[in-house]
Amino acid sequence: MKWAILHAVSILALVHIVYCIDHYRYDDLVNVLQRVASDCPSITRLYSIGYSVEGRKLWVLEMTDNPGQHEMLEPEFKYIGNMHGDEVTGRAILTSLVQYLCDEYKNGNTRVEYILNTTRIHIMPTMNPDGFEYAYDYVERHGYRHWMYVGRNNANDVDLNRNFPDLFPKLYNKKLRNDGQNHHLSYSTMYSEMLRENETLAVMHWLDDYPFVLSANLHNGELVANYPYDASRNTYINEYAATPDDQLFRQLARTYSKNHGEMSTRKTPCEYGGDVFVDGITNGASWYSIRGGMQDYNYLATNCFEITLELGCIKFPAKEALPGIWDDNREALLAYIEQVHRGIKGVITDENNNPINDAVIEVDGIDHDITSTSTGEYWRLLPEPGTYRVHASAASFIRETKTITLEPDGVAMVINFTLHSFPMDNETTEEPVTDQVDVDKIVPICSGYRRWFYIFCWNIDR
Ligand SMILES: *[C@@H]1O[C@H](CO)[C@@H](O)[C@H](O)[C@H]1NC(C)=O
Ligand SMILES: *[C@@H]1O[C@H](CO)[C@@H](O)[C@H](O)[C@H]1NC(C)=O
Ligand SMILES: *[C@@H]1O[C@H](CO)[C@@H](O)[C@H](O)[C@H]1NC(C)=O
Ligand SMILES: *[C@@H]1O[C@H](CO)[C@@H](O)[C@H](O)[C@H]1NC(C)=O
Ligand SMILES: [Zn+2]
Repeated sequence: MKWAILHAVSILALVHIVYCIDHYRYDDLVNVLQRVASDCPSITRLYSIGYSVEGRKLWVLEMTDNPGQHEMLEPEFKYIGNMHGDEVTGRAILTSLVQYLCDEYKNGNTRVEYILNTTRIHIMPTMNPDGFEYAYDYVERHGYRHWMYVGRNNANDVDLNRNFPDLFPKLYNKKLRNDGQNHHLSYSTMYSEMLRENETLAVMHWLDDYPFVLSANLHNGELVANYPYDASRNTYINEYAATPDDQLFRQLARTYSKNHGEMSTRKTPCEYGGDVFVDGITNGASWYSIRGGMQDYNYLATNCFEITLELGCIKFPAKEALPGIWDDNREALLAYIEQVHRGIKGVITDENNNPINDAVIEVDGIDHDITSTSTGEYWRLLPEPGTYRVHASAASFIRETKTITLEPDGVAMVINFTLHSFPMDNETTEEPVTDQVDVDKIVPICSGYRRWFYIFCWNIDR
């Protein structure tokens, strides 16, 4: 009997060994990623998005059923770990996640197979490989200290989560934003490349290269799912800064915290001083305001929605704690990926079925638009359930409107739009078909940007 229990314990121990959770140093981490890529070649592609300051490649493992290509209407998702080099839980669990997805795919786990069939997942276990090496050396030599800060920044001693373009002056100053655009805010590129670190620029270019829809950035030092905005209107005052997508972001953050082992139920704050957050979620700026963060940049400059996950009080947990941490996070990591299938998605074409690039998808009541890709595709995450009026428009096309009702079933509804070109200065053209569009909303679209075109159209009316 005793022997049987011991035996069972050793089998359980073996299960953990299969997932191989550890603080892999850079070379070992790359080995694990390469091994997973060769174990599961049909669902993986290993690629690098650039180099760290000390010349380490920034590796990403893509996992999906047809790696290396974007599939029509398949949403793209990303996880980024270890942006602060001394915050290592994300790096460890993402390394476990890629092994888990590979193993479970081979084992015929239908949930994992379905996720990989329907989602293109990009996983970057470390965004700051240089910082990690400093932190690892320090912990090995001196033992762990909570606020050691060694390795938090990159090799140029810059905090990468303060190094993204700060779009808040533009967002909060209507004069600067005279086009009224509520998405893809632009910034002066004059000094941009000079001000950005290697790792930051690599991520910014990565965001341009893939049509990411949903993302999470994994940190340590608290236990909470933090959602945008990270910056408050008055930088130095910590106060709730809601995005127009606040309800959605709260649902997304709650999905992670409720599926985590203790994030939403924890009763005591972190030992070194901290908060206990209702439901294990918080608005970033209401906790403490930061500028130049990555999640705000994702939301204000791209179509991607990102939250920041704080995965525990201890920034650099002992190796022995990692299996338990992985158990606490596994379901949350999967459930959060599945959120990329919320809301609506579709293709925007003209009457001849040509895709329309940069069409604007607006939802009434949410002052934040989404744009289509060069293949005419869009994804618009929305809180469920709910009924929404959605408009699609593009330069020289008539805006089209549809009303949709979403059930909370987690499968994005496909809503395609066929836009009719606006009959500019053409007396012989018939009036557009009006049973598919709102008659009162037929306005010439002079550009994708609303207030700009109102002024423009008002001008030509006179
Ligand atoms: C990264 O930084 C180093 C030195 O700072 C530089 O030599 C290298 O070219 C940079 N790489 C990229 C991809 O920017
Ligand atoms: C995933 O896709 C493959 C190939 O199309 C199909 O055979 C399989 O049934 C799909 N699995 C699930 C769970 O949908
Ligand atoms: C939307 O368009 C895509 C691409 O043309 C097509 O595959 C899909 O069937 C369409 N869906 C609906 C509901 O019209
Ligand atoms: C006017 O409409 C006709 C018929 O749709 C089209 O052939 C012609 O190119 C249009 N002219 C202009 C200037 O748009
Ligand atoms: Zn951090």
